[in-house]
Amino acid sequence: MRSHECDQKNASRIIRAEYKNNNPRPAETERRMSKFITLEGIEGVGKTSNMRYIKELLENSGHDCVVTREPGGTDLGEALRDILLDHSDDNMSPDSELLLMFAARAEHLSKVILPALEKDQTVLCDRFTEATYAYQGGGRQLDVDKISELEDWVQGELRPDLTIILDAPVEIGRARAGGRSEPDRIEKEHDDFFQRVRSAYIELANRYPHRICLVDASLGLAAVQKNIHEKLVDYDIVGSGIMTGIE
Ligand code: TMP
Repeated sequence: MRSHECDQKNASRIIRAEYKNNNPRPAETERRMSKFITLEGIEGVGKTSNMRYIKELLENSGHDCVVTREPGGTDLGEALRDILLDHSDDNMSPDSELLLMFAARAEHLSKVILPALEKDQTVLCDRFTEATYAYQGGGRQLDVDKISELEDWVQGELRPDLTIILDAPVEIGRARAGGRSEPDRIEKEHDDFFQRVRSAYIELANRYPHRICLVDASLGLAAVQKNIHEKLVDYDIVGSGIMTGIE
């Protein structure tokens, strides 16, 4: 195992151990199957259908799966999501947007994500902090060091075990998402905003290849799902023999 992978695994273990110390539970088996997996991408890359696909693969592989999303996943988080995405408010300052994303995340971690990992469940989350780097860092051009400070404060050492970024050119995403419903506050942004979001995602995948990967989402659904399956095998999340009814 490479040393940065080792650091990542140890960090994940430490934060779970800290949570366990503060929330004692009866002794249980030492089986550690739980993983923290996140799915990312710009609008229109097919997150919704691929979330269902990944969940099915995980469950067929024996994972007890909790599916959740950001911003959201808790009562407070969903209320913050409504505020963040409200299409009538195009005046929110970028700093307020950033801080509300992390407020929702703090609640989500303490009420949903950490308790699930502690119960040996696998958490599959539709967006997480990589979205903040992409949208607030890339799209809004906020200082990435501020995001990194908030990340360390709110998450400690916890990072997803695997982040899959569905990557496609902005025009393809736009064309696929177009006309679905009234665009929310962020969907209303212009193409150059989404170009920056996409570039930031690609940069993250290049920077942290041990835990973040890109999947070409411009391909047809069957090819995208085949690639997702291969990534889950490569990153040791599911076995190569696992299939879903969707394939
Ligand atoms: P979606 O989950 O339906 O794609 O909508 C969530 C929106 O919120 C999407 O436009 C991305 C945005 N977002 C951020 O800007 N920063 C974040 O940290 C997260 C989690 C989401």
